Amino acid sequence: MVEVGLLMTIALILALLHFGVPLSYYYYLKKWWLSKPWNIRRDPGYKPKVSIIVPTYNEAGLIESKLDDLAKQDYPRELVEVIVVDSASTDGTPEKVEEWARRNPDVKLALIREPTRRGKAHALNNALKYATGDIVVITDVDTTWSSNDTLSNAVLWFNDLSVGAVTCLKLPAGKGIMRVEEGYREFYNVVRLAESKKHSTPVFHGELAAFRRSLLEKVGGFPTNIGADDSHTATKIALMGYRVIAVDNAWCVENVPRSRYHTWRIRRAQHLIQHFMAILKHLWRAPRELRETLLVEVYLHLLNPWILVIAVAILLYLALNPSIVAIALIALGAT
Ligand code: GDD
Ligand code: MN
Repeated sequence: MVEVGLLMTIALILALLHFGVPLSYYYYLKKWWLSKPWNIRRDPGYKPKVSIIVPTYNEAGLIESKLDDLAKQDYPRELVEVIVVDSASTDGTPEKVEEWARRNPDVKLALIREPTRRGKAHALNNALKYATGDIVVITDVDTTWSSNDTLSNAVLWFNDLSVGAVTCLKLPAGKGIMRVEEGYREFYNVVRLAESKKHSTPVFHGELAAFRRSLLEKVGGFPTNIGADDSHTATKIALMGYRVIAVDNAWCVENVPRSRYHTWRIRRAQHLIQHFMAILKHLWRAPRELRETLLVEVYLHLLNPWILVIAVAILLYLALNPSIVAIALIALGAT
């Protein structure tokens, strides 16, 4: 009996932790940090040279509209170079890029063709060798920037030398399952933004991840062994003391895949787990505000999912063990 009561209590406490910690963190950030000032000097007149790197692997269906979107940005054309880096696509993606470049001679565009596919980060590092911009912006093909001033808005933060990297907030597109995603994103947008006001956010978005090129070089480019290459690189820059922030003037639309939605979500989660595992050993050298954020995010990504698994396992054990349930019922009746 004691055992049943104890196990039930443990399961309950674990379930409370699993749901309570993220919620408390959210309300803490919302109350204490969300409306704080940025303390970052922005200047809309600051116009550094920008390299936009677009990694592609079999994106023939989307690459032209992606390039159209980039060409619509209001950032001065003479200050932008687009570098498409393709890793041996088999669906004619590079040919589509070449055709697009012929139709749009006013856009400075370079195409790098890798002979074999060695992953997105490998391709980005390759492209970095050719990038000449002060700011390097990475953007996935399956995403759209919400308006034609998204790039300008993201870049102006780099006017302040304390800023090392900038990412967008996410506006999910579509209906149905996307609505779940929408709520989820709202929660995460608040967290990303408030963490950024506090110091930095350790989660970046492939839809728009902008870096000061000199710092990218300092951290040795993108890691090829960690799925969340953008988040990891940004966090390494934050560990050097720079702010790496998600900003509320730059929004991206993420094309949530309709098919294989769950596989995609699981892959994303695995990437973040790799990232936070690798961050663990650097926690001690983070500035205090950043360390607090990293500690909570490490808990949320590495421990919190297991806490629910254990709670459910205990409950299943109790439910599937009829003798225990019977004893529990008798005990209940007896009291
Ligand atoms: N050159 C090249 N080589 N590009 C690639 C490769 C590759 O091997 N693999 C994927 N890409 C390109 C895709 O064509 C797309 O433009 C972009 O990289 C992102 O690939 P997705 O397959 O759409 O990745 P995801 O949606 O699961 O994850 C993205 O978002 C994460 C979180 O925001 C990626 O950008 C991750 O790096 C990011 O952490
Ligand atoms: Mn994607």
